[in-house]
This record gives sequence, structure tokens and C-alpha cells, in this order.
Amino acid sequence: MLVEVFADHESISDRAAEVVTEQLRRKPDSVLGFATGSTPLGLYKRLIRNHEERGLDFSKMTTFNLDEYVGLPPTHPQSYHHFMWENLFNHINVNESRVYIPHGMSDDVDSFCAWYEKQIEDAGGIDLQILGIGANGHLAFNEPGSSLGSRTRIKTLTEKTVRDNARFFEEGEAVPHQAITMGVGTIMDAETVLLLASGERKAQAIRDALEGPVTGMCPATVVQMHRFAHILLDGEAASKLEYRHHGGIAEPKP
Ligand code: GLP
Repeated sequence: MLVEVFADHESISDRAAEVVTEQLRRKPDSVLGFATGSTPLGLYKRLIRNHEERGLDFSKMTTFNLDEYVGLPPTHPQSYHHFMWENLFNHINVNESRVYIPHGMSDDVDSFCAWYEKQIEDAGGIDLQILGIGANGHLAFNEPGSSLGSRTRIKTLTEKTVRDNARFFEEGEAVPHQAITMGVGTIMDAETVLLLASGERKAQAIRDALEGPVTGMCPATVVQMHRFAHILLDGEAASKLEYRHHGGIAEPKP
């Protein structure tokens, strides 16, 4: 596990953009896993800038998003489809046929999830998976209590997650209570996971994830078992860590 601590969210975003850009320069047909939420927004802005100003080419990449709300059509402003097109895909040269985002309106969710897993497999697996973390330690929408071996499936969200995510919805608008999410096992299969966290609100989840016992009650603890987890934090998110990871490389990248 490589943990890097930065001064602020801007610097995390700079570093994350460097990692993703490097990955795409080294392997233009990389399979990338993308995440939603406010944390990766700075990263996406920088990727757009690298495309516009430095010609970073996205045309050969394949992408898989982590999750999507059940019941929201792709056009819904709070759907993760909408989020990804608005904040990234519309502004870079993606090949639309290689963009995969779980379909929240699927009428056969189980078949859809199996199909999604198969697409990841057929693409050769995910090279680099970007992750945020929920304040309750969730990864994607793998809530506390998720199986650490789980695959893509439907999950019911906790009250806390529904409350946390309500800030993105209009006042009074119903926040979905279910989502389709890659499983913890699906995420673990990625060659590298790049987890970003910033702010005091994430400090306890980061402490639990990096230093607590591995448990399905905090799905993010599974990063401790990943062959190469790269963690980017700001000082606030790192504030509850006991072990001084700063600048330390615990293990070399395979
Ligand atoms: C949602 C997403 C997660 C994300 C989390 C944190 O629950 N499903 O993938 O990590 O939000 O969001 P934020 O980055 O806004 O704190």
C-alpha cells in the first residue's frame, strides 16, 4: 500500500491526474474504472485540461463505472450516467461504445449485473480503478455488511448514505434507496486501486480502512488486502491515522 498525504484537495487531484495520465500514456488502451462523488471532480477537470492542452488521448480506453442508482434514467441530473458525461466524457475523446456504466433502469437486474461482470472480464480486467470512500467506509455502494467477495449486484443503501447523498438532489426530491454496484470482489480484481479522500468528514473512515481490522462492516478495509492500493489523502482525511505513512512506500508496485 502506498499512502501519500497532501496539503489539500487540489494537490490530491494533481497527483491523481498524474497517475491516470501516466497510465494512459503507457497503455493507451487501458481499462479504467471511474467513480462519482465530489472527490474525483478535481481529477476529472485536470484530465480534461490534459486532453485539451496536452493532447492526452482517451480514444482507445475502455471505462467501467462503479455504480448507479436504481430507478434513475441516464438523463436524470443526479444519475451517475449524467454525472460522468457532464463532468468528463463530454469533454474528452472517449469512444462511446467502450463506456460502461451500470443501468439503473434495467428490468432484469441480475442478468444485467452478470453481463456487466462479463464485459469487465472480456475487456481484460480493470487496470486502474479510481475510488472515493463513503463516510461510513463504503466503497462504491458496497455498504457496511457487504461481502468482501461480492460481485456486481443490487444493494440497498443505508440511511446514512441516503442522507449524505441527499445534498446532490433537489430539496424534497426522493433520493434512491438502492443502487447497482460493482462488488468488493470486483474492485479487488483491479490491477491498481487509486483511492482519494479529503476532508475531516472522511478521517474516521480512512483510519478504519487503513489501520482497522479488515471487516465487511467497513468495506474499504479491503484495500489492506489489495496487491497495490495507492491512497491519496489530504491532511484532514489523514488526521486520525496513527501510523505515519507520509511519503512512505510500504511495498513496491508489482
Ligand atoms: C457515493 C459513491 C461513492 C463515493 C461516495 C463519496 O456514495 N457511490 O463511490 O465514493 O459517494 O462521495 P464524495 O466524494 O462526494 O464524498
